[in-house]
Amino acid sequence: MKNKAISEHISSAIKSGKSILDLEEAREIMELSGIPFNKSGFGKTEDEVVSVANEMGYPVALKIVSPQIVHKTESGGVKLDINSEEEVKFAYREIMKSVKNKVPDAEILGISIDEMVKGTELIIGTTVDPQFGHMIMFGIGGIFVEIYEDVSFRLIPITSGDAKDMLNEIKGRPLLDGARGRPKIDEGQLVDILMKVSELVDKNPDIQEMDLNPLMANESNVVAVDARIILKKSE
Ligand SMILES: Nc1ncnc2c1ncn2[C@@H]1O[C@H](COP(=O)(O)OP(=O)(O)O)[C@@H](O)[C@H]1O
Ligand SMILES: [Mg+2]
Repeated sequence: MKNKAISEHISSAIKSGKSILDLEEAREIMELSGIPFNKSGFGKTEDEVVSVANEMGYPVALKIVSPQIVHKTESGGVKLDINSEEEVKFAYREIMKSVKNKVPDAEILGISIDEMVKGTELIIGTTVDPQFGHMIMFGIGGIFVEIYEDVSFRLIPITSGDAKDMLNEIKGRPLLDGARGRPKIDEGQLVDILMKVSELVDKNPDIQEMDLNPLMANESNVVAVDARIILKKSE
């Protein structure tokens, strides 16, 4: 009963007055929805983080997990391409120092240790339009989202035909086909993820906003490496 687990998770968060889910909670809901994520682990102390990274194998990324920190990079909470135990220790200390300095009141739950993934960065998100209701968005993701605003929208729920149309409507469409030396991405997996996000929000309208940014897409895999969920505030 995965749907039940998802809705219980969301209603208990709302009851406890939470509106933003941290990376670990958002990832759990995505995984229950069948949305693929990169391999990851979690550690609370430097020693735990080191041993998880050693077990996972290098390279890894480290990310801060805190309910108050939505934009992790901005607060110095993300370190990429870490290749050894020494680098893990250094990155761990740098993250803690920077986060405490930039967001002194944030509650720090720990650090997510993530496998590094290669591919074209895409975004899937959802919002609520005051007139039309829940909408789903697809586009080129990562750091260029705000600059290009190259996205397509549909009302939720979508069909697989809608999902395919959404891929075709963006200006950056050739990037999906492997333009400029990029991998030709597996569109079947991308359509599947669009459908699953639509279904998740359709069944759980208390999700006010969510995004997978970025999704890393290549020839063989499409996986999310970051997720954000914002819930409706309890009345
Ligand atoms: N596992 C990963 N593999 C490769 N690149 C990653 C990975 N995780 C994050 N990145 C890169 O780092 C950027 C920031 O990380 P992200 O988890 O999205 O944090 P935030 O959006 O909160 O700053 C991503 O947009 C992506 O370019
Ligand atoms: Mg992100």
